[in-house]
Amino acid sequence: MIKQLVADSINAQLTREMYSSNLYLSMSAYFSSINLNGFANWMRVQAQEEMFHALKFFDYLLDRGGVSKVGAISAPPSSWDSPLAAFQDAFHHEQLVTDSINQMAELAMKENDFATNIMLQWFISEQVEEEKNANDIVERIKLAGDSRSGLFLLDSELKTRVFVPPPPTK
Ligand code: FEO
Repeated sequence: MIKQLVADSINAQLTREMYSSNLYLSMSAYFSSINLNGFANWMRVQAQEEMFHALKFFDYLLDRGGVSKVGAISAPPSSWDSPLAAFQDAFHHEQLVTDSINQMAELAMKENDFATNIMLQWFISEQVEEEKNANDIVERIKLAGDSRSGLFLLDSELKTRVFVPPPPTK
């Protein structure tokens, strides 16, 4: 049976992942409102990825005989000053998520919960990708600068992103 402290940390993270999903869906709505539909698509796919992350925690806790609980989720912001500001927020948010996953791994090790530690390895690798993806776009928006054509080129590229659920790990 999973220790309560570890179960609590998984439920807290499950709720954070759902907040992440809402945050990115809200960013998608913002980008749609300024007619950057490729950016909107990228954020919509990101929202789906975050829901996948939430369900991964949800299912893992059930598999361990715990009780999965969805906590209160606060409303995300709904507008940003610019595409750059939105992606900088996304990058900053991913850095916070990395911190919380690392703290979970620390707790799992302290509690000798080897199974949770193995499950978290997937998220630790995923966070490297999550931070990189958001930061790459921050840097590319900066490169485009005041060039509308640069921004629209990036928008066309981001339109091609599709959600592909990662293969099951169990
Ligand atoms: Fe679930 Fe973007 O980390």
